[in-house]
Amino acid sequence: MTATETNPTFPQGFLWGVATAAYQIEGAVDEGGRGRSIWDEYCERPGVIVGGETGVVAIDHYHRYREDVGLMRDLGVDAYRLSVSWSRVQPTGRGPVNEEGLDFYDRLVDELVAAGIDPAVTLFHWDLPVELQEAGGWLNRETSYRLAEYADIVGRRLGDRVRMWMPLNEPVVHTLYGHALGVHAPGQELGFGALQAAHHQLLGHGLSVQALRAAGCDNIGIASNHAPVHAASDSEADVAAAEIYDHIVNWTFADPVLRGSYPAEELAAALQGPVAEDLEVISQPLDWFGINYYEPTLIAAPTSDEGSSGVLEVDLPPGMPFQPVALEGYERTDFGWPIVPAGLREILGIFADRFGDALPPIYITESGASFHDDDPDENGRVDDRRRIDYHREHLHAVRAAIEDGVDVRGYFAWSIFDNFEWAAGYKERFGLVHIDYETLARTPKDSYFWYRDLIAGHASAS
Ligand code: NOJ
Repeated sequence: MTATETNPTFPQGFLWGVATAAYQIEGAVDEGGRGRSIWDEYCERPGVIVGGETGVVAIDHYHRYREDVGLMRDLGVDAYRLSVSWSRVQPTGRGPVNEEGLDFYDRLVDELVAAGIDPAVTLFHWDLPVELQEAGGWLNRETSYRLAEYADIVGRRLGDRVRMWMPLNEPVVHTLYGHALGVHAPGQELGFGALQAAHHQLLGHGLSVQALRAAGCDNIGIASNHAPVHAASDSEADVAAAEIYDHIVNWTFADPVLRGSYPAEELAAALQGPVAEDLEVISQPLDWFGINYYEPTLIAAPTSDEGSSGVLEVDLPPGMPFQPVALEGYERTDFGWPIVPAGLREILGIFADRFGDALPPIYITESGASFHDDDPDENGRVDDRRRIDYHREHLHAVRAAIEDGVDVRGYFAWSIFDNFEWAAGYKERFGLVHIDYETLARTPKDSYFWYRDLIAGHASAS
């Protein structure tokens, strides 16, 4: 990445945000009447998480949320994207509300509002209550209705103060990693069978949008992971493989929501349930569409019928019709992900072309990078200039997309805090604020001050 020192400037009203998710930061898993989620259970399995780490303590946000909101206030963000833990609100995923759990979010939302920060709430960021998993999880259609019931509960309680809602976060990752490949909770290895779990998440999204609107909430969207998919060569086989992959990771998740259809007939035909009717529910009009962007993918035709890993951290099951290959020629984050800001501009353009007038305004609901930062030096400084470059260049890409005519309204940096990076544990650090996992001390990194100044520059200009 060639870094420029100049920051981009954005139109007045562009929303500046930061993001987190409950299981990655809260800790306090046995407190306040919280039930267990599939991530509590998954982390207890030997060998599945780097270093055997868990979210039991995480960054202890549950107890330190006031200090954390103070850091957000000093950062000057307009909005904070958090997720609500379903198991805190409904410990078994259905039925009676755990008031103590809901009270926690009530206090957090009040604290944010008092700090002048708009809460942006994700309802399901992958942490399904275990009882629902035991009843079949996302393979059971009933789970979609349970999500809507939970959406209704949270919407009625917090709707007067929450400014943005998203029932789902990255259903593609929860489907592929959690249900197809088994490297995230609930650890299922269903291959293409996982698509039914995708359909039920999407149905849950549509039903929850209806429930939230009925509860008087507005400004509703989705946080969906998207990136360009390219063929490794011009060969017919590679182009065909890339198209299948693109359909699976991008359009299976965006088309139902924005167009009310699946990208391929065979796909819809393989699903159980009244799919046509479900698609009407799934395609409820949205106020905005959120894109989480990290890296583009290069795809080739499979070289054999054996499962092979390509660049994924896990072996693909045998017989997959595509093969991810390494993208050469780019710097990488310390997580190993190629740094391709142009891919963000490109995917925004692809969305604008594909959906045209059906595309509501876009927010970048996540963008960020893991670098293995040094601990704070003797002056308490963390020099993370590579993260500054990363955000600056991705913001330039967003700015360019706006010039191209794409209606992008805001940017949420992932993440304000270092946190529990799922199967990769605590080694991967995405935060603008460093966490010392021994003392739980929070130390703003250079990127925090850079982002603060960038936001302040926009505020004073408007
Ligand atoms: C997307 C997920 O929503 C978030 O939970 C995760 O930590 C980041 N990507 C980084 O992998």
